[in-house]
Amino acid sequence: MFETRITKLLGIKYPIIQGGMVYLSQAGLVAAVSSAGGLGILTSANITTKETFRDELRKVKSLTDKPFGVNINLAPAQRPVDNVTYIDILIEEGVRIVETSGRSPEALMKQMKQSGVKVIHKAPGGVRFAQTAEQIGCDAVSVIGMECGGHPGPFDTGSIVLVRAAVEKIKIPVIAGGGFADAAGFVAALALGADGMLMGTRFMATKECPAHPKFKEWLIKATETDVVVTQRSIRAPSRNLRNGPAEKVLELESKGATLEELLKYTSGQNSQKVYFEGDLEAGLAECGQVVGLIHDVPTVKEVIDGIIHGAEEIIKKKLAGLVR
Ligand SMILES: Cc1cc2nc3c(=O)[nH]c(=O)nc-3n(C[C@H](O)[C@H](O)[C@H](O)COP(=O)(O)O)c2cc1C
Repeated sequence: MFETRITKLLGIKYPIIQGGMVYLSQAGLVAAVSSAGGLGILTSANITTKETFRDELRKVKSLTDKPFGVNINLAPAQRPVDNVTYIDILIEEGVRIVETSGRSPEALMKQMKQSGVKVIHKAPGGVRFAQTAEQIGCDAVSVIGMECGGHPGPFDTGSIVLVRAAVEKIKIPVIAGGGFADAAGFVAALALGADGMLMGTRFMATKECPAHPKFKEWLIKATETDVVVTQRSIRAPSRNLRNGPAEKVLELESKGATLEELLKYTSGQNSQKVYFEGDLEAGLAECGQVVGLIHDVPTVKEVIDGIIHGAEEIIKKKLAGLVR
């Protein structure tokens, strides 16, 4: 057992969170994480209608009786999302955990807090974002180092420093994310003072993740240097697998390309071809450096049980034995 402020706050068995992953965090993956004792988080931004959003929430509930969360992405999007309505729907469906990301959730806090929703704000790269989240009443923050898949934030701060800096300055529970995938990472997150660990990339290489087998094969073969940060020039940095489209985007960015010029390569439609059709050269796919530590495609339960048992072994047998 690993009881922390996060397990108590969220009513979960283990302090292991699956960060929202656009397109991929569908009901099956989310329910599998929650059933295995962690917290699964469904992404809402890729769900295009209120009806399908409600259906997806009901699907998760039909697959698990454990708590799960919903990611509300507040970053400007090509297809605007009615987050206020989505939050009303998730509350109606009994969901009481939201992960916000992309922008400060200040404008939505009243709506969520008056229905007892626990808000975890994701702060990539900077403690100042986490401090703002604390000030506006969030219940917890996940601080995400630049190793991560997806948005590393603007400051290029790695997880070791970021988590320590956050723990020094923040009183609400802190979740460590970015570069974590295994038992050693879990022990490290707790040793750094975090109340929990969040993973994205590791959960992509699981049986329940709906990605194409060819994409999962790529994850197994890739090393930590097979990823690259694109779109810094348009202030939307994203860590992606290193493929033709990613190299092309970097080349265009070095020549001062506009957002419109980059869109040919960066669109979500292209990314979906990578994830779901296994066409690895179709577009960008978000992925973290920690892909270099992933060598198999187990079930979600095997991942989580392996982390918990492995962490107990590391603490009791390896670390305790070093103390004289
Ligand atoms: C494929 C993919 C899609 C992601 N999509 C989102 C998203 O829609 N919203 C969000 O807040 N974070 C998103 N993230 C970030 C993850 O929730 C998480 O913060 C990150 O993966 C943690 O770092 P790690 O990949 O090293 O585990 C995504 C990450 C990946 C790998």
